[in-house]
Amino acid sequence: MTSTYRILLTLCLCSLSWSAWAEALKVGLSLPTQREERWVRDKNTMLAKAKELNVDLRVQITDNDASKQIAQVENLLAQGIKVLIIAPHDASSAAVIVEKAHKAGVKLISYDRLILNSEVDLYLSFDNVKVGELQGEYLATHVPKGQYVVLSGSPTDNNASLYRQGAMKFLKPLVDKGQIKIVMDQPVKDWQPSEAQKLLEQALTAHQNKIDAVLAPNDGTAGGCIQALAAQKLAGKVVVTGQDAELTAAIRIMQGTQSMTVFKDTRLLGQKAIELAVKMAKGESLSNDINGKINNKKADIPSLLLAPAVVDKSNLDKILIDTGYLKKEQVYRRL
Ligand code: BGC
Repeated sequence: MTSTYRILLTLCLCSLSWSAWAEALKVGLSLPTQREERWVRDKNTMLAKAKELNVDLRVQITDNDASKQIAQVENLLAQGIKVLIIAPHDASSAAVIVEKAHKAGVKLISYDRLILNSEVDLYLSFDNVKVGELQGEYLATHVPKGQYVVLSGSPTDNNASLYRQGAMKFLKPLVDKGQIKIVMDQPVKDWQPSEAQKLLEQALTAHQNKIDAVLAPNDGTAGGCIQALAAQKLAGKVVVTGQDAELTAAIRIMQGTQSMTVFKDTRLLGQKAIELAVKMAKGESLSNDINGKINNKKADIPSLLLAPAVVDKSNLDKILIDTGYLKKEQVYRRL
């Protein structure tokens, strides 16, 4: 070995061991639940990206409990995190979390769900009004006349009202023209599938099963609704929307009991969250990363909103399977 090689080798070994020694950046992640498959994916994507970027990601799941979320974040702050990535269970009460984080000198990313009335540093999500528009447009096109059940997500989740707002852009004109009649319009507490099932059962009973379309805000609630329809032998005869591209929803779409879902690529969202958390910790500007500002009733929050896409039987293979989001053998196994 020449002396030049020896010097180079020593330099390489030194820098390798230096990076191994360099303390990992501590980032906190607070998620509302692991009930919907998507939140499990968000977590796993972020853990993988964190490993790649030498981030020590500390994860807490709040199980849809606002006060538990506050306590868990206090704990994360005490652990010395530099950035907090949080999807709030309750958009309003989480404002106190933003204050606590800032007091501790910690920057905060409102992840997927926006925290209201607070100085959030970054809002990273999908275009949620667009999600609702895609659901509403699908229904308006496929069921331009008839009786509708409109369910919306948890009232504590700001996304729920954005989805509804988007969907109503397409449904309200049909109501005004007298073409469709909304016979039930209800929120689903905590996005619970069993709650959605109960609501649809009530609507079916009250209207002698004469329901033509159901706006189910996500795949979990769609699953509950489809169970209610199946009990009346109506599964596949009523148009039902969804959101999240869950495996069970993809199977139902191919079986014909669920009409569509909205795909939001949480892999991209999760990776972005970690990348931007690292940038924020370094004090780097995010001006080239954001694509707009969203008002949260207190301030215009710098935002990065990714695009959602409609999935139905006609394009499921292309959008979900070819991109590796779902595996072909899993989707087609039970057909
Ligand atoms: C998310 C949806 C999810 C729902 C229930 C919403 O805030 O955007 O993807 O299905 O919460 O967890």
